[in-house]
Amino acid sequence: MIRPAELIQRKRDGEELGADELRELVLGYSRGEVPDYQVAAFLMAVYFRGLSSAETFALTDAMVASGETIELGAALGRRCVDKHSTGGVGDKTSIAVGPIVAACGVPFGKMSGRGLGHTGGTLDKLEAIRGYRVELTTEEFLEQVREVGIAIIGQTANLVPADKLLYALRDVTATVDNVSLIAASIMSKKLAGGADAIVLDVKIGDGAFMKTLEDGRALAEAMTALGRRAGREVVCMLTDMDQPLGQAVGNALEIREALATIRGEGPPDFSELVLASAAHLLALSDLGIDEAEGRKRAERAVADGSARAAYEAWVRAQGGEPDESALPHAPVVREVKAPRSGFVSRLGAIRIGVAALHLGAGRQRKEDAIDHAVGIVCRRKRGDEVDAGDVIAEVHARDETSAEEAEAAVVATYELADERPREPKIVLDTFGA
Ligand code: URA
Repeated sequence: MIRPAELIQRKRDGEELGADELRELVLGYSRGEVPDYQVAAFLMAVYFRGLSSAETFALTDAMVASGETIELGAALGRRCVDKHSTGGVGDKTSIAVGPIVAACGVPFGKMSGRGLGHTGGTLDKLEAIRGYRVELTTEEFLEQVREVGIAIIGQTANLVPADKLLYALRDVTATVDNVSLIAASIMSKKLAGGADAIVLDVKIGDGAFMKTLEDGRALAEAMTALGRRAGREVVCMLTDMDQPLGQAVGNALEIREALATIRGEGPPDFSELVLASAAHLLALSDLGIDEAEGRKRAERAVADGSARAAYEAWVRAQGGEPDESALPHAPVVREVKAPRSGFVSRLGAIRIGVAALHLGAGRQRKEDAIDHAVGIVCRRKRGDEVDAGDVIAEVHARDETSAEEAEAAVVATYELADERPREPKIVLDTFGA
């Protein structure tokens, strides 16, 4: 039997712990035998001392072992692919990528999460679609992926229960932003979800956990190593989250933007990320094609309407109304105008995320209800030239008072300069392609 206090002390003093010790600590915690206060102290020791790669592997294995695992490939009789983003503002990538990949004949079965704080969650966005069921049983999930080619659901209750407990504890003990803990948290869920190949999207910048390319690379390396060690193929993209992704921030607004992108009418940065992600997923699938051919097929699925048809079949199968006109509209829509002429030099993702949160698009506490109709559309992005009085954004609000507050926050977030800034890039780097 381990003694948690001794493990805390050894980690505090910078010692490397054994795989069995970490396993007992994690499994003991998820069985309720080790109390929150000891695990909180342990997490803080890890935050300051870090974990070696052997310790990170052991932590991830223990987290996977805390619950059930899904054999997606075996259940479908095919090699399966999955994707994951570390989260940001306006990130609706899976909602556009899934139908494109499915339209190209590759099954897409994904478990997604909810948003907390300024970041949105895919499940909350999907719930803007009238009737959409995020909770399917594992059998229903597998059946839908087999029959329709795509399903996106909430994580089943027994998939990596240790992560649910650890994440909730990290969230309230200032121990979220540690590379090893983030890597183990994300990869334990991906490994338990059963995909053979995984495309990871590590967000970098103001609106992301990873603020610098250097930190993002460290996280990408840690997650890639965890995946490879478990026999999975991993490609990791590092992508920009200094400004919101695409234009729309807010649940129904983001579904509309994902739909526009599936039709080939999306904003350039978001469309590029969607096509790049789909190309990697197709290249990792059992189609036997490379990334360039994957890109061509993804573009074709958008151009010939098959991605749109896959979206409709998916949403209908999950009980939702795919028609865009059924999405909720906010009663107040206010245009935000440029106070002067110039080039947009900064559009901080976190401030736009927080303004959308205050409109009601996200939750400040877990139990808060979301208003799916509200949000912000950033019509102009970094690098765009504007004249004084041009519409740079729209605020979609439930009343005039919240619209006014959001308008002031949005105007203050747009920084305008006289010089054109460097051409913004969405994909900053890619590992493992
Ligand atoms: N997303 C996760 O799932 N876990 C983390 O620790 C951070 C982001």
